[in-house]
Amino acid sequence: MELKEVLRFADDKVFSKTGKHLDDLQEAILKEVLQGRKYATKIAQDRDCTEGYVRVAASELWKILSDVFGEDVSKGNVRAILERAKFYNHSSAIGENYGTVNHNVNICQERARSPTEPQNPQQTPKQLHIDLGDAPEIFTFFDRTSELSTLENWITGDNRTRLIALLGISGIGKTALSLRLIDQIKTQFDYVIYRSLRFSPTLETTLTNLLQIFSQTSEIPQNIETKISQILDYLRKYRCLIVLDDVQMLFSSRQLAGQYQTGYEDYQLFFKLIAEVCHQSCLILNSWEKPREIARLSKDNHPVRCFELGSLGEAAKEILKSQKLSDQETWSTLIDIYQGNPLWLELTATLIRELFGGRVAEFLQCEMPILDEGLQFQLSQPFGRLTAAELAVMVHLANLPEPVAVSHFFNKIPFSPSEIVNAVRYLGNRFLLDVVEEEKIILFSLNSVLKEYVISMSI
Ligand SMILES: Nc1ncnc2c1ncn2[C@@H]1O[C@H](COP(=O)(O)OP(=O)(O)O)[C@@H](O)[C@H]1O
Ligand SMILES: [Mg+2]
Repeated sequence: MELKEVLRFADDKVFSKTGKHLDDLQEAILKEVLQGRKYATKIAQDRDCTEGYVRVAASELWKILSDVFGEDVSKGNVRAILERAKFYNHSSAIGENYGTVNHNVNICQERARSPTEPQNPQQTPKQLHIDLGDAPEIFTFFDRTSELSTLENWITGDNRTRLIALLGISGIGKTALSLRLIDQIKTQFDYVIYRSLRFSPTLETTLTNLLQIFSQTSEIPQNIETKISQILDYLRKYRCLIVLDDVQMLFSSRQLAGQYQTGYEDYQLFFKLIAEVCHQSCLILNSWEKPREIARLSKDNHPVRCFELGSLGEAAKEILKSQKLSDQETWSTLIDIYQGNPLWLELTATLIRELFGGRVAEFLQCEMPILDEGLQFQLSQPFGRLTAAELAVMVHLANLPEPVAVSHFFNKIPFSPSEIVNAVRYLGNRFLLDVVEEEKIILFSLNSVLKEYVISMSI
């Protein structure tokens, strides 16, 4: 929703309740806060007044807005409250017009005539409903500032994204990042839900689970279509942030990445609807295999985006520090070898502590990289899923000193060019390949950890 629109809407509401428009200072405060900025310093500078004065004005403004909207408004929730109020205002106007002369309704306004409105729609919740289910507790979290800000911007900025795939190899930090994001932006939502699909629940089970959170008292319908339409109604009616973690558990082994297992194909339709139907919510899918429909939908101008999570970078030093390792001057080398992957570094740091007394320099004297058993187990999961052609590509790459182009594999491994091209392409969708592009030449290689895994497992 446009900033200007939201400001105008707030001003109209205040005027119709109090007979007074927002003054310049109130408008400036609202404008800064709606953009997620720290307002006091900037406004105080712009207007040559003290920050204290601006803060007092802001607290008056929250009181006025609380009065107008009938709930406690603060700088943390003002955007969510205004947008929700504007949404309902708009929808009810369309609802009143529907059946008369309004031919200009666009697809986004369909909700007013949805035939599948839940039987007992609840009142707008006055407070945040948060259900994180069995989400792991995150004790320490380092950096990821720019990743968090990009995701926040996608979700709450002007061009709202309805479906985000948060992708990356196992251990890179998808679960931790999504939970940190929830913590950061939860006050802007009515419902915040986290569920892991690690036990591969069917779509029916997942939908029932979600509906139980939304409509604690109403009966859950039997029919899957009705379940889907009820969920979509809740996503329209409330601003919801839903994270579905471990989406890779829906995909088949020994098939190219992102292929749904038999009996799980409905998820594809569900995710497509989330992308295509207009609503005010966001679904985040965490996965170490890129879901196929995401690649298609993100090209079609739908509000769908992929976020590929990479190395934790310098901040990974904090992990080594928390494990009390020594030889700080060598930490960057260790981080590079283990690709800045927080889990790989945690496992390796434990190994260094237990067998090398925490001395990183001594550990690095060994032939690198050394793979802790836990790290090997982590890697066995994606590798256990590879097709024969993908495995052949990986083994071949593990024995090459330099990156190569896709055509290099032709006639070197016993698969047709089509099989090889698909294998290379979908290995990318499993985040197992390093890709470099130089003057339109695309070259593929394996990082040192994967190379060592492939060689040491003799696969
Ligand atoms: N930014 C971070 N700061 C500190 N620890 C992190 C960070 N990201 C991930 N971790 C830790 O690394 C491990 C793997 O992270 P996780 O989120 O489970 O990865 P993924 O979901 O991608 O498999 C966990 O122990 C997690 O706490
Ligand atoms: Mg995870």
